[in-house]
Amino acid sequence: MVQDIILILDFGGQYCHLISRRIRENNVRSEIVPHDISLKDLQELSLKFNIKGIILSGGPASIYEKNSPRFNKTILKLDIPILGICYGHQLIAHYAGGIVIPAKTKEYGSSVARIRKHEDIFSGLKDNEQVWMSHGDTVLKIPKDYTIIADTTDCPIAAYKSRSKHIYGLQWHPEVTHTKNGSKILKNFIFGICNARPDWKVDALVKTYIKNIKTTVGNKKAIIALSGGIDSTTATSLAAVALHKNLIAVFVDHGFMRDGEPEKIDAIAKNLGIKYMHINAKGRFLEKIKKIINPETKRKIIGREFIKVFEEIAKKVDADYLIQGTIYPDRIESGQSKKSEIIKTHHNVGGMPSKIKFRGLVEPLKELYKDEVRELAVKLGLREDIIYRQPFPGPGLAVRIIGTVTPKKLAILKRADSIVTSEIEDNLKERPWQYFAVLTDTKSTGVRGDGRSYGYVIAIRIVESDEAMAAAFSKVPYTILERISTKITNEIPEVVRVVYDITNKPPSTIEWE
Ligand code: XMP
Repeated sequence: MVQDIILILDFGGQYCHLISRRIRENNVRSEIVPHDISLKDLQELSLKFNIKGIILSGGPASIYEKNSPRFNKTILKLDIPILGICYGHQLIAHYAGGIVIPAKTKEYGSSVARIRKHEDIFSGLKDNEQVWMSHGDTVLKIPKDYTIIADTTDCPIAAYKSRSKHIYGLQWHPEVTHTKNGSKILKNFIFGICNARPDWKVDALVKTYIKNIKTTVGNKKAIIALSGGIDSTTATSLAAVALHKNLIAVFVDHGFMRDGEPEKIDAIAKNLGIKYMHINAKGRFLEKIKKIINPETKRKIIGREFIKVFEEIAKKVDADYLIQGTIYPDRIESGQSKKSEIIKTHHNVGGMPSKIKFRGLVEPLKELYKDEVRELAVKLGLREDIIYRQPFPGPGLAVRIIGTVTPKKLAILKRADSIVTSEIEDNLKERPWQYFAVLTDTKSTGVRGDGRSYGYVIAIRIVESDEAMAAAFSKVPYTILERISTKITNEIPEVVRVVYDITNKPPSTIEWE
């Protein structure tokens, strides 16, 4: 049976993936497509899927900016339900004959929406709903055939609907958890209005994915970079079942892994019973970045060196196929969604094949989100510590040592990081999203015994997050912070001071570099 699907037109909003994930959480397939998708491409997609609804995402642009992203107006005439969110809401209003202007008061943060009618998209909502706003422009006048269905104090046209078609607009973001009943609104849209069938079930895909790898690679050889993270480990497990001894997993140890991690990766490979190469490239990476202070340069050098090392190995083993643990957001971020603001160069094995000519590239997880990969990993029986491993940047501890990286600094940070990890894991029932130590480039005065000392300042970063796009510093009990601080200063003589990072993202990022 042809699968039902909700399409998301990507206007470059950081929330685009969130919309997609919220839909998939309801077991309905969603796909992100470029905002300017042509009717021909839409038609082609409709041969593969039942397009049950279209969502226009938010985005950082203003519709009055030159070259701001647009969509094909004819889409509004199709017989498919449409929901515009934020920028999408403004653009629909503009195209349908309404007026959009810069708002007198830019709204950023929580607001209260007064719901005028508790039906269709707002079915089951209360009179006043907490919603999350983030916009500079606003709809001043709605199109002729449209009616206002919600307002806030600063935004008189916070939501509208067409009187004759299934077209809706929301100035707020239903996809973020700060909009309390956002999930209900999206559910109302996908089920109540689009009548989509919930037939997207990840764990049922294991067999298909294994079969696809088998069909593509046949009896040739394939190589994969194994980093111990959930994506590469799950991809390796799928490929191991499909290819057995024709799979070669390579772990390139750049020397910036946490304590005990290289050994864990060795154990994973051993468990899977595949051919495995552990490449010790520690000296090589350290040499390349030893004088580098700029974080972006550091990230780029490590990323490039990684590719080089991997290429050398790939040449040696003469593999025909490259397997990568690329997941859906990696693909969209590097490909279609060019309008999203790029904040850091992410080192992902995903950016790999460059000089080596492989017969083909296999990306078994390319249509999944991280939580869906986790579901798959559970189905594959992977160990819990792998499935729930906290995210770890590709360049590793090198971007948690501010300024230049030396073997001594690495050793200090590894010890501090182990203390943070064990204290959090042993003492908190609910694990935060990420918890780690950062070696700041600051030295400070302390006192030990009878004498003064001068040593490093370690920063502790513990954050709560849903998908790393936004994060809040964790309000962990002081007793735990105190124990971490005491242990670090007692056990690591080079550290005299421990500070706790109390910034959220935004304005900070999760990692310090
Ligand atoms: P930031 O620091 O940008 O990080 O708030 C967001 C999330 O991404 C992780 N991170 C990376 N992950 N390669 C990765 O695969 C990288 O180069 C990288 N840099 C940061 C970070 O730990 C956080 O979860």
